[in-house]
Amino acid sequence: MSIAICPGSFDPITLGHLNIIRRTSKIFDRVVVCVMHNSTKPSPMFTVEEKLDMVRRSVSRYPNVEVDTYDGLLAEYAKRYEGAVLVKGLRAASDFEYEFQMNLINKQINPQLETMFLTADGKYTFLSSSVVREMAFYGADLKGLVPNEIIDDIEKKAKLWRGRDGK
Ligand code: PNS
Repeated sequence: MSIAICPGSFDPITLGHLNIIRRTSKIFDRVVVCVMHNSTKPSPMFTVEEKLDMVRRSVSRYPNVEVDTYDGLLAEYAKRYEGAVLVKGLRAASDFEYEFQMNLINKQINPQLETMFLTADGKYTFLSSSVVREMAFYGADLKGLVPNEIIDDIEKKAKLWRGRDGK
């Protein structure tokens, strides 16, 4: 059975992420979406539990996709699934530089681990979780950016953030 791991910080999950997950689910028998911590992004908008809940609701229509979380190194986590391949999306050359470095680090830790990249769908190359957070903060319409199932969650959290910042 072929297994893919789609890791990310998903703060929050976007339609760009979901597009990569859906396409991965057509190529692999089993897909594990893993919600992880990115130490270069220290102040997440959502807690791990909130992210897990939003990712679960977003992928519920895909029967071979499951959701997990891990607080540690991705290359260590991947050892749980024999032969698993990491699958990540690439939007631009800047993504490639970062992902190439991550791939080398992951290989140092777990030499068996392979990473495959899917190029982002053209209509999502501009999209990132940080764009969504910014749009939400200013009360913009989130339709077409994130799964419909989680728009309310983001709007509620953005309202709290605006209140905190006195806006
Ligand atoms: O969605 P993101 O923020 O681009 O995802 C990055 C993520 C979470 C996959 C990456 O930061 C990660 O692998 N975090 C786990 C810790 C780890 O293994 N870091 C790489 C070696 S330093």
